[in-house]
Amino acid sequence: MDGRDLVRSARTVRAVGTSQGWLSVRSALRRRRADAAGLPPRGAERARVPGTAVGAEPQPGGGVVRFARSSLRIRVTSGGAVFCGWDGATPEPSYALVGPGPEADGRAELEPDTEGGWRVVSERVTVAVSRFGAVEIRTPGGVVLRRELPPRWWDVVSEAGHGDGTRPESRSDQDAVSGDDGTEEAVRTGSCGGVSRWVQRSEVAADARFFGLGGRASGPRLRDGTYRLWNTDPGGAFGPGDDPLSLTMPVQLVVADAGTHLVFHDNSWDGRVSLHEGEEGRGSGHDRAGSCEVRMDGGPLRYWVLTGTPSRVLHGWASLTGAPALPPRWALGHQHARFGFGDAAEVRRVVAGYRTHGVPLTALHLDIDHLDGHRVFTVDRTRFPDLPGLASELRQEGVRLVSIVDPGVKAEPGNAVYESGAAADAFVREARGREVRGVVWPGEAVFPDFTDARVRKWWGGLYAERLAQGFAGVWHDMNEPSSFVAFGEPTLPRSARHALEGRGGDHREAHNVYGLAMARAGYEGLCELRPEERPFLFSRSGWAGLQRYGGTWSGDVATGWPGLRASLALVLGLGLCGVPYSGPDIGGYSKVPSAELYLRWFQLGAYLPLFRTHCAHDAGRREPWEFGDEVLAYARGAALERERLLPYVFTLGQLARLTGAPYVRPLWWNTPRDRALRDCEDAFLLGDSLLVAPVLEEGARRRSVRLPRGRWYDTTTGQAYEGPGRVMIDAPLSRIPVLARAGAVLPVAGADGDVELEVWAPAQGRKGGGLVVPDSGDGWERPCVERMESQWESGRVVVSRPDGEPVGYRVRVRGGGTRAEAGEAGPDTHGGRDEE
Ligand code: NOJ
Repeated sequence: MDGRDLVRSARTVRAVGTSQGWLSVRSALRRRRADAAGLPPRGAERARVPGTAVGAEPQPGGGVVRFARSSLRIRVTSGGAVFCGWDGATPEPSYALVGPGPEADGRAELEPDTEGGWRVVSERVTVAVSRFGAVEIRTPGGVVLRRELPPRWWDVVSEAGHGDGTRPESRSDQDAVSGDDGTEEAVRTGSCGGVSRWVQRSEVAADARFFGLGGRASGPRLRDGTYRLWNTDPGGAFGPGDDPLSLTMPVQLVVADAGTHLVFHDNSWDGRVSLHEGEEGRGSGHDRAGSCEVRMDGGPLRYWVLTGTPSRVLHGWASLTGAPALPPRWALGHQHARFGFGDAAEVRRVVAGYRTHGVPLTALHLDIDHLDGHRVFTVDRTRFPDLPGLASELRQEGVRLVSIVDPGVKAEPGNAVYESGAAADAFVREARGREVRGVVWPGEAVFPDFTDARVRKWWGGLYAERLAQGFAGVWHDMNEPSSFVAFGEPTLPRSARHALEGRGGDHREAHNVYGLAMARAGYEGLCELRPEERPFLFSRSGWAGLQRYGGTWSGDVATGWPGLRASLALVLGLGLCGVPYSGPDIGGYSKVPSAELYLRWFQLGAYLPLFRTHCAHDAGRREPWEFGDEVLAYARGAALERERLLPYVFTLGQLARLTGAPYVRPLWWNTPRDRALRDCEDAFLLGDSLLVAPVLEEGARRRSVRLPRGRWYDTTTGQAYEGPGRVMIDAPLSRIPVLARAGAVLPVAGADGDVELEVWAPAQGRKGGGLVVPDSGDGWERPCVERMESQWESGRVVVSRPDGEPVGYRVRVRGGGTRAEAGEAGPDTHGGRDEE
């Protein structure tokens, strides 16, 4: 048992109680035994590098370059995405890609390059392959965005002890650097299971910054260090120092002066990514490149690179891995959860509290304590005798019920879900054939194999029970998958067998996609069961592509100021990996927050896509009135402002679906060359129009805010500031600074509930604009995007539509001070007036 195990077992016992403590000891022992019997013994292995290029075969969009000991397939797609696959790897099969992957760019051809290398030139990107297998991704102007050194594999040496019978060449004959001397490497032990490990090192510009890798508490800018790719339940509340967490993914967004690019290593095995930011030589001309090293325990060496502006890259990423699901409108309002709602009466009391205190609430989430003995798809009828009745009563007040759904099924005769799953042979098995048994909240549990289409179908059908209970959405939890163990990894044995869509394999490959595949099962089930409504699903774990089915949340972020900061890092980082809908447990999960911390968290949460208060059963309460009248008043203000902004947030959800752009973006989103913004982690853009500067420090009543270029208005005072630069802005307890971009046109709810346009005066002589996507219900209606423009005309700010259609909304012009005179904004608008 190592130090981490000790911490874990202490946390496990604390989390599940001593009664389950012994079960977790048994589970850990069982897991160890299963792996001892089910994983091939570690054997000898031999290092390999590609060797010298010996020829190439053109194919649509690129071709295959053959090396002495490997091959590299390159395909540039019509959208400009680059696929590279070593050792015969192709884009499919893939859990991340949607459909068969984009078409090859018919105009991109593989051609010989200088010094025995090859290249593919396309309109958006050039890929150059050196004679020894280094790959450069260059802009059309020839600037290198990323240089990958020849990869290195460690292949299992066959029984005869000769590996593949080849030897790496000497250093002078190849491009390998950074400690890999490239000479013949001693056969060493370490390989496990007949699979090749591999490492790939890359260099990026000295000024590059790294983002992404899924949900990382220490982000959004990923500092030098090693980040694990293995979805992990931290087993208790986590802070910025904890890594990995529940939702890792091999997706990096790299932002440099030369350009932005995203790299996705399509490989779900356990791995590690080591990042080192570069250093500029301060005029000496001796820059040290940034570097990145991806090391995987197995699986294919294949990756995608997308280049362009951040918005173009994220658009390409959504085309590749699927458009983000659009939550129903109610899921963009304020939601409340708690581990430990006692019963239906308490639920009613909480909802009534929101009503009487005038704090908007659109959904209430029921955690595992509403289940019968924590069994999934059941209800504790003593405490919730009529859940459908309660759900419909709440719905009349505009409050939906959301249900937790855990994958662990209590393994006991008489449990209908267990029995039907067992009859369908739905549960993951050990290599020796027995069902894998772990321990989760209900006790001893089995785990559906969501990598099997048949099992997804069975599981998806079970959501009928949730719908019959009146639930409007689902919250997937514990799906790393998590299993309480006293020591070792808190998950299934690595040797556990999975269908992997018929290919067959084990948990080493299936682990990271387990939550993703569960989300697919739930999403597809809900679509089938209630085809007229968009599902609402969010999931603690997942992988690249999760956005197709829903969103995520922070997991059990620790109560404290560092946790508050981490919760913003998670949302920003996940958005840059293509998962735009997420949010933290407001107030933190683990302890009772101070009133000030709770309020600052609430104020931040009001501007994040998932706006939800939640905490553990022993961490006090999260209703705003529990923190005194002052906090209640200010939290109410934040929640009402969120309600006012809902048409804008809804528009951002629609735009995320259409373009892949996250609702919440780092400040550098539109100006990635602004280095100061690249390093700014304490503020964010909500769409294109708003800049939100949360208070992340105790006691702060004023804060410095870094502004992107252009004019920005403090939305409370109307004061205009010119960016780029830093300004000090008041941040009294009553609010956090929110600034609007000059010229912005954003849809908001007017006092009468109708949508109106809030327009922030453009700077004189400049134009502005914004997009509006009207709400057309919670079904599948095709969105209609209305483009608005704002400009000064004869001393008035005027809003119009470039397509010549009437604006169709009431317009309120703000900002512009004495210089701005607002007027009516187009033929069909009414009530436009200056509020200043
Ligand atoms: C872990 C989740 O992260 C947390 O939100 C939930 O309250 C508990 N599981 C209990 O279901």
